[in-house]
Amino acid sequence: MCGIVGYIGDGNVYDILIKGLHRLEYRGYDSAGVAMVGDDGQLNVYKTMGKVSNLETFCSQKNLGARLGIAHTRWATHGEPSDTNAHPQTSQDGNIAIVHNGTIENYKVLKDALIQHGCKFASETDTEVLVQLIEYIRVTNKCSLLTAVREALKQVVGAYAIAVIEKSNPDTIIAARQSSPLAIGIGDNEMFLASDATPFVEYTKECVYLKDGEVAVIRRGEPLKITDLDNKDARIDVKTLELSISELEKGGYPHFMLKEIFQQPETLRDCIRGRVVEGGRKININGVNDNKEVFLNAKRIVIVACGTSWHAGLLGKYLIQDMCKIPVEVEYASEFRYSNPVLDERDVVIAISQSGETADTLAAVKIARDMGAFVFGISNAVGSSIPRETFSGCYIHVGPEIGVASTKAFTGQVMVLTLLALAIAQLKGTLTDAEIENLGKKILEIPSAVEKVLKLADKVEHLSLIYTYARNFLYLGRGYSYPVALEGALKLKEISYIHAEGYPAAEMKHGPIALIDAEMPSVIIAPKDHLYEKIVSNVQQVKARGGNILAIVTEGDQQICRLADHVLEVPDMPECLTPIITSIPLQLLSYYIAINKGKNVDMPRNLAKSVTVE
Ligand code: F6R
Repeated sequence: MCGIVGYIGDGNVYDILIKGLHRLEYRGYDSAGVAMVGDDGQLNVYKTMGKVSNLETFCSQKNLGARLGIAHTRWATHGEPSDTNAHPQTSQDGNIAIVHNGTIENYKVLKDALIQHGCKFASETDTEVLVQLIEYIRVTNKCSLLTAVREALKQVVGAYAIAVIEKSNPDTIIAARQSSPLAIGIGDNEMFLASDATPFVEYTKECVYLKDGEVAVIRRGEPLKITDLDNKDARIDVKTLELSISELEKGGYPHFMLKEIFQQPETLRDCIRGRVVEGGRKININGVNDNKEVFLNAKRIVIVACGTSWHAGLLGKYLIQDMCKIPVEVEYASEFRYSNPVLDERDVVIAISQSGETADTLAAVKIARDMGAFVFGISNAVGSSIPRETFSGCYIHVGPEIGVASTKAFTGQVMVLTLLALAIAQLKGTLTDAEIENLGKKILEIPSAVEKVLKLADKVEHLSLIYTYARNFLYLGRGYSYPVALEGALKLKEISYIHAEGYPAAEMKHGPIALIDAEMPSVIIAPKDHLYEKIVSNVQQVKARGGNILAIVTEGDQQICRLADHVLEVPDMPECLTPIITSIPLQLLSYYIAINKGKNVDMPRNLAKSVTVE
């Protein structure tokens, strides 16, 4: 997982690359670098540990005039973060530079063979192996760079999106992809490439997403050329980008995460638009309408996802089982792919991924497809790999999520899963028209209910001061509030580095209750639902052991308000819609605690937005 950028054209090469790297910093930020064929005819490679801003300082005294260039922001996999392991990596003779996102699985075998041929390695990266292999083939076979890249890639096992340049060729960038994303932007006499379209959306709206096994030749003054590894021409499918530049900026907020939390009324409106129609009486999901037989005959649904998307998937299980009476299993994609899954054509597999690029989820999609299951994708990033690899699907339409901790994508995923469950229930007749209309109307009220919840921000900020120095937290919930507890705990861990455990509240007495004392706060999600009386007893159990309680309750609650140390009241909603409402105060709590601790909330340590490696 890393971000790559490339540019060829008459613009300021260095400025365009650096700006692009800043846009891709969500993909990794432990080192960064650029390689440019300079005005002086040299291959100038500048790279350093740390964020892109460190690279800018490092480059301030360097020769930055260039004809083309490639750049990289890294999230280390092979080789610790260091100046040497940073990309671009160069060949031994210094003539070829490469940037790479992905992992070369057979790098050890290739490296040993190259060492036998006298090759010397400077870094510990798998990427250096690839560039040395390209150089070796280029020199040994006396072939062009393009041929050497193709031949090298035929020997490689693994995932890659790469861009390669050469000192002696100031007019060409070669790019290729296998399982890692790569987009090419086509401008007026200029071309861009990047891990996603955000680095070039301000220059051009014309974009080509490279497919697996394709190689692109980006040559100054010539149209884009794409072939496969055997040099057979591939079809070039130009898409028009719908992203706008304002969507990529902070819009007056101090952090992307806070902006994204506060965007939720709007993003949920966008997510619902056109899908709840006739005043709530009808739910319109194209992926269901177009595949009625599949959903009518589904004997089982298997949801695959990772992290926050897995938490949304767990809610999907509750929603689909409650509304559609179809058994649902929820699997971590990383476990599913190695678990010898048993699937057939009457199974529906739903893959959930904000980025649409998570390597494990993508692998799970491919396995499910190969086994004959119908695969449905729920993604945010338009044109990403998962929507392209699935038979049908549904976008959550929440706009680019830049903060590493997922917020608006989570509520968008939960909303889409709710609509999906309702659409299937409508099709199967497992809910009455009146039940659908009642829920449809309530869904239309969700954006304003979320606006109301966001008014709690000042209170949450104040409460966060009380909780900032706790070293461990327990998050408890039952039924629909259990996945919310898991998600609340994950948010806190990710950005404030405080240990937090999400637990089903009733399960607590089988172990975690031993941890409870005055030092460990419990955040208890306890809206008025059919398990309310049960969670009241769980609150009492924590209280009886001297625990401190922060509870999320429904407006007007009395019982828990009397027991808890602090409460946050949220609007009343039907049980299945409470997760969207109750998760928002937890997002705010983790944000403010992390701010109080002085942490970088948008770029937490060791994490990156898109996990395109195993
Ligand atoms: C947590 C978070 C991660 C992602 C996970 C899956 O805030 O963002 O846990 O949810 O890496 O990512 P996607 O949804 O892009 O597949």
